[in-house]
Amino acid sequence: MAKTPPAESVDDIRLETDDGIEPNGRADADETAGSRHLVVVSNREPYQHHYEDDGSIGVEEPVGGLTAGLDPVLRKTRGDWVAWGDGDADAVVTDDEDCVAVPPGDERYTLRRVWLTDDEVSGYYYGYSNRVLWPLCHDLVDRIEMEPAYWDTYKSVNESFGRAAAERATEDSTVWIQDYHFCLAPKTIRESLPTGANMVQFWHIPWPAWDTFRVVPHPEELIEGLLANDVVGFHVERYRDNFLECAAQLDGTDVDREAGIVRIDGREVRVGAFPMGVDAERIESIADGFGRDDWVGLAERYGIDPDTRIAVGVDRIDYTKGIPHRIDALETFWETHPEWRGELTFVQKSSHSRSQIPAYQEIAEDVCEAVRRVNERFGTDEWTPIVHVDDYLSQRELFGLYRHSDVALVSPLRDGMNLVAKEYVAAQVEEDGVLLLSEFAGAHEQMDEAVHINPYSPDGFAESIHDALTMPAGERRRRMRSLRDHVREDDLDAWVADLLEAAGLTATERLLAGGQDV
Ligand code: G6P
Repeated sequence: MAKTPPAESVDDIRLETDDGIEPNGRADADETAGSRHLVVVSNREPYQHHYEDDGSIGVEEPVGGLTAGLDPVLRKTRGDWVAWGDGDADAVVTDDEDCVAVPPGDERYTLRRVWLTDDEVSGYYYGYSNRVLWPLCHDLVDRIEMEPAYWDTYKSVNESFGRAAAERATEDSTVWIQDYHFCLAPKTIRESLPTGANMVQFWHIPWPAWDTFRVVPHPEELIEGLLANDVVGFHVERYRDNFLECAAQLDGTDVDREAGIVRIDGREVRVGAFPMGVDAERIESIADGFGRDDWVGLAERYGIDPDTRIAVGVDRIDYTKGIPHRIDALETFWETHPEWRGELTFVQKSSHSRSQIPAYQEIAEDVCEAVRRVNERFGTDEWTPIVHVDDYLSQRELFGLYRHSDVALVSPLRDGMNLVAKEYVAAQVEEDGVLLLSEFAGAHEQMDEAVHINPYSPDGFAESIHDALTMPAGERRRRMRSLRDHVREDDLDAWVADLLEAAGLTATERLLAGGQDV
């Protein structure tokens, strides 16, 4: 692939004026957050300390878009991050207040660890969060596994996190809660939130329709818990609308769907769509530094023939990601287009989490089995059709892999946003790759120039792979340029700025009302 410069330089797009407001009228993330102290609350911690085989202590950055996306924000704005300390050496490096300065070697912010017992982990994390709320919100009701104990543990762990977050908050704090692990924590935090502080929660996964949501036994309590925030954010309008619909089912709420406001207990809660972005500038510059020689080295390490065309998939192993469906589509593709045998290699980069849950063990086995089947059917001595990489890749290698891939297959069955789609686009410095994107990913609503696919239709999916590989260079470039403009403009900074600005507005309104809840 020939190297061509990006359409515009990043500096052209992110020019700031003196007051920190960009020319498009949007506040800059550093400015918006800079005047406030951030307290991020998430289940997953951004850094995990563990013992190495030789007894020394190492540090890992856990997988997942959430922590990868928020760490740069806290690096810039400083502040506190409250999260579950699940590394076996986590407690060794924390102080008397359970805090440790991170990132290791370049300390910028405080990580406050919350300790959980084995029972708490199984009821709250492996139980209610990931066996109930995760499948529920992804519309996979049949996968829900309900145990009464899960709910009790979820409640008490939410209180522990809530107390830890409230301890870190001061009157100029914005407490920023992440995701479905914490529907109830906002209530605990609200009880001791200093005047002047505010609370915003971002829901990183889809929010389903009321008819689905009410399948769980405690729908009202979950929604009421979230409404203790000042702002509740979702990736796209549809999830926001679904949430407002659910909020309207509660006694005592008054919902203004157009304005996205829920009135409850004499307070106003803003509900909005804030599509998360990626640090496009950073990804682009890392990918730019990963040239042809680096790529050939990486490809050789994994037995990938660098002279074939490359399709890439990057996922956490999860039944929502549709990896077996993707492999079925590839099988159909090589079956119906034999001319691509030996000419296209698919690289599936996987990472593992939640592996104690049987459904995750099963999906991991299904993926390995599907890879074996296709490789046995079409593979030759010279060519392995599917290369499954499930060991660690550095960010440099990952972004390099994106850059040198002709096609990305981002085909979840359901996904809140999917940041892989945006990372692939940001890493496309030659601007000639093609993004295939599932209709069921939140990113689909923003990325018009992607080739849209239905992961449930192997024939249609296979034809789209063929179309992508045979797309004229001019059209590929036109689409990729437009996608890149969008990913650069709606990047991580813009997301943080928009969300925190909405939280700032509610705080201002409260202050104008004399420090009382409006
Ligand atoms: C999704 C969720 C995150 C979660 C990540 C990884 O992106 O929205 O909250 O951290 O998956 O999952 P894990 O269970 O390993 O934290």
